[in-house]
Order: sequence, then structure tokens, then C-alpha cells
Amino acid sequence: MEAPAHPPVTAERRPADEDESRRANRRDWDRYADEYQATHGAFLGDIGFVWGPEGTSEKEVGALGDVHSLDVLELGSGAGQCSRWVCSNGGRAVGLDLSHRQLQHSLRIDDATGVKVPSVQATATALPFAAESFDIVFSSFGALQFVADGERLLEEISRVLRAEGRFAFSVTHPTRWMFPDDPGPEGLVASQSYWDRTPYVEVDDVTGDVAYVEHHRTIGDWIDLLTGAGLALTRFIEPQWPEDHERVWGGWSRTRGLLTPGTAIFVADRLRH
Ligand SMILES: C[S@@+](CC[C@H](N)C(=O)[O-])C[C@H]1O[C@@H](n2cnc3c(N)ncnc32)[C@H](O)[C@@H]1O
Repeated sequence: MEAPAHPPVTAERRPADEDESRRANRRDWDRYADEYQATHGAFLGDIGFVWGPEGTSEKEVGALGDVHSLDVLELGSGAGQCSRWVCSNGGRAVGLDLSHRQLQHSLRIDDATGVKVPSVQATATALPFAAESFDIVFSSFGALQFVADGERLLEEISRVLRAEGRFAFSVTHPTRWMFPDDPGPEGLVASQSYWDRTPYVEVDDVTGDVAYVEHHRTIGDWIDLLTGAGLALTRFIEPQWPEDHERVWGGWSRTRGLLTPGTAIFVADRLRH
């Protein structure tokens, strides 16, 4: 399949609801999947689990704990690299992603490695699983920051988790929303309010359609969402940029990474009902 070209877009901050966000992001990730995998696939590793552009691995931080013999769901699983790592460590992982093209890449890597991740195309705000199906739900820069309806998302995650199950996820560090998304020195000058929750939206210059959406939540917002869904925060990990790490990924770079955190990893455990 030939990937359709990216349309010219204009970035702005404006409201975007759940339907608009889902429609735009599904199209965008279908369009972008080939380039994403070609650019970042080697860094991610076919059977690799990194939490973000710093290259911090699950092996280093142990956010999920021992996955052996556990049922594990990955949200926004993309090509399933993290889930494949879970499988290779004895867990039973299932992937879920909004983008069909990302899941085609997942199948391609399943075949190439022989480590197969059963995956489903769905949105993280309507999980096609029975209650209490999983011991762990996780997401590495997956669905979380693409979703408008945070309450619904967390409700769903809590519903499919077993009592005392774990939820761990990484997102762009909320403080990054104060800065322009620029990997150079300009990305170090705060110019936007940390408390402005207006979504980041890219609008197609030709059609005027919303082409891509990301939603900002402060650290306090995330903690409130977790708590509201019966999940108790147990760790908040802010991976440090390795001194010798030169790789640029979008707005993430050594220039910024040595001074400000780029990724936040939240770990929370579901309380008993
Ligand atoms: C930055 S990629 C990360 C993919 C993968 N976790 C990785 O580390 O490569 C974000 C992924 O989230 C998916 N996504 C976006 N919105 C979603 C939603 N509402 N539900 C499920 N997946 C979603 C996208 O299709 C995309 O594959």
C-alpha cells in the first residue's frame, strides 16, 4: 500500500472533541505509519520496549514489574514492539491501536520475528474486552495524549483491569507544553501557559478539516484522572536524557533533554472495589 501524502497543515490551539480527535488521528496515523516505522523502527527495536525518545527501557525502570504469566494490554500499540518484548518475557500481551496501517506493520514484524502479538483495531476509549480481563494495561506514548475524553478513557482502563492490577503509561512531559515544539534552543524559551488545556490542533490548509490533535493535561490533571478511576499513583518517573544520546525525535533533542524533562511515566495500581 502506498501511503497517502501528508497534507499541508497549519498548527493552532483550539477545542477538539472526542469524535473529531479520533477521526483526525486515525487518518493521520494511517498516513504517517510508514514514515514513523521507517524513521523510528530501528530505535524502537522489533522486540524492544522503550518508554520515549530518551531511550529509557522497561528493563531499566521496571514500571510494569514482572510480567511473567500475566495478561497484558497495550494501548496505542503501533507496530507492537513493546508487546513483543512483554511476550518474550513470558507475558501474554495484546495490542490495541486506532490505526489500521500501524497494525499492518505489527503483522509484518510478527512474521519477521516469529513473536506474534494478537492485536485489535479500536479506540482506547471503548475497549472491546470484558471487565477484569487484564493484570496490566500500559501505553508507551500511545493513545493517552490523543484522547479528548480523559474520564471515559480512565474508566475503561479501570474496568478491564483486575483488582490490584497495574496501569503504566508515558506521555510528553506536561511541562513541555510551555515551550515551542522545537528541538533547538528556541524550544527552551517558555512561551505558553502550562495551565492552558486548549488542544494542539493541525488544520488541513486545503480542506479546513482537523488533521491531527493532541490533548494537554497537567501533572495534577493526570493524578486526578487516575484517582477518579480508582487508581492510586505509585511512581512518577521522569527519564533523564543520557549524556551521550544525540538522537533527535521531533521536539526531543540533547539540547533540550539535558535541561528539561521530555517524558513522564505514570504508574498506578488499581484499588480493590
Ligand atoms: C506515538 S505512536 C506510539 C506507538 C507505539 N506505542 C510506539 O512506541 O511506537 C501513538 C499511537 O497511538 C495510536 N492512537 C492514537 N489515538 C488512539 C486512540 N484513541 N486509541 C488507540 N490508539 C490510538 C496511534 O495510532 C499510534 O499508533
